[in-house]
Amino acid sequence: MTAPPGAAQAGPAPPGAAQAGPAPPGAAQAGPARAADRRFAVTARRLVTCDPSRAAAGDPLGAIEDAAIVVRGGAIEAVGRRQEILGREPGIEVAIEAEGVVTPGLIDCHTHAPWVGSRDAEYAVRMAGGDYEAIAAAGGGIVASMRAVRAATTEEIAGALRARLRRMAALGVTAVEAKSGYGLDEASERKQLEAVAEAGRDARLPRVVPTYLALHALPPEAGGDRAAYAATVARSWLPAIAAAGLARYVDAYIDRSAFSVAEARPALERARALGLGVRVHVGQFADVGGAELAAELGAASADHLEHVAPEGIAALARAGVAAALLPVASFTLRQDPPPVAALRAAGVSLVVGSDANPGTAPTESLPLALALAVRLYGLTVAEAILGATREAARSLGLGEVCGALRVGLRADLAIWDLPHENAIVQPWGTSRALAVLRDGEVIAARG
Ligand code: NIG
Ligand code: FE
Repeated sequence: MTAPPGAAQAGPAPPGAAQAGPAPPGAAQAGPARAADRRFAVTARRLVTCDPSRAAAGDPLGAIEDAAIVVRGGAIEAVGRRQEILGREPGIEVAIEAEGVVTPGLIDCHTHAPWVGSRDAEYAVRMAGGDYEAIAAAGGGIVASMRAVRAATTEEIAGALRARLRRMAALGVTAVEAKSGYGLDEASERKQLEAVAEAGRDARLPRVVPTYLALHALPPEAGGDRAAYAATVARSWLPAIAAAGLARYVDAYIDRSAFSVAEARPALERARALGLGVRVHVGQFADVGGAELAAELGAASADHLEHVAPEGIAALARAGVAAALLPVASFTLRQDPPPVAALRAAGVSLVVGSDANPGTAPTESLPLALALAVRLYGLTVAEAILGATREAARSLGLGEVCGALRVGLRADLAIWDLPHENAIVQPWGTSRALAVLRDGEVIAARG
């Protein structure tokens, strides 16, 4: 593999990459000058398109052997067999020759990425048998992260988030949903979302989808009055955050030790009325009716679902709500998997996220989540890959932007030093992404 255009920040061609000749023109002048009409090809031994129009029985991912993609101005202009594409345009600059598999950039549909601080002491207590809900009830857990976020500046949070996004990109990730939810008062939630907006402006990082996690936990100053807190969120904080354009989605943690359906409903209804999408934490510890509410509100996703009854699954299926599976969290909490077979049988779209957070899923690795989704949840490799590409994009409203390798979408790619997508979901415990492109520009590469 040679350095693609604009790859100066990425260093030399990664080991194991084929040489495609001298570095293409423009390779040395990365940075702000992003040529809108730059045109080049990427070739791959195996290209996993995730394009449904190429899928077939036995090939659900629409793979092409010996393939090429043409990128123009950051978008995909052509996809097909290498011979066919390069034969048509023998003069085109082949900027990358990938010897292994190339996939769409991975998309993480559920993260709490704008956090600061560490809850390593809590983790040690939990690993020794401490209970997550009991620790939270005693003022730890989410409220411990709240204290860290309240004490941090916007710039400190944005800096931590940027560093995290950079590490995620190195794992093959090109788009990340990022929730607030550790501020728990209006100013601190806004601070988290402003940090998300700041990191989201950096085109050298994965694209960012901001979610206001409006109801996550009760801050100490709420005096235990969940209903009053939820009402203030719905009446005042949420409309202000929406008016500031700081969120595309609104989330609520609906569970036995969190918010009830009745408490969450006003904020989520208000979100819909304001034109925002809804994604909800549902059934992580108990089924309290969150799936039915998600379906009623036409939510983009219902997330966790370790505990969801058949009625809830039927409601999600009827309403076309995606199931966001978060296997790192259930693994860390020693929980049984969600009813994946029933979700699949009902036709619910399966999406996989890292749930990156300092409590239940202390990871930044979507590939780890994919490995666990296959190993612990019984997803097929194709389901896991689609759940972190095309289906994840759809659940984030990015279906016409990324998530597949087809003409017209942005050139967001992950180039792996692996021969086949089956290897991506093996728990390697290390990054196997050789180079990661967003909008046709390298945002991460193995040095
Ligand atoms: O998705 N369960 C609620 N929210 C997060 C955990 C947040 C935390 O513990 O900090 C989750 O698991
Ligand atoms: Fe979560």
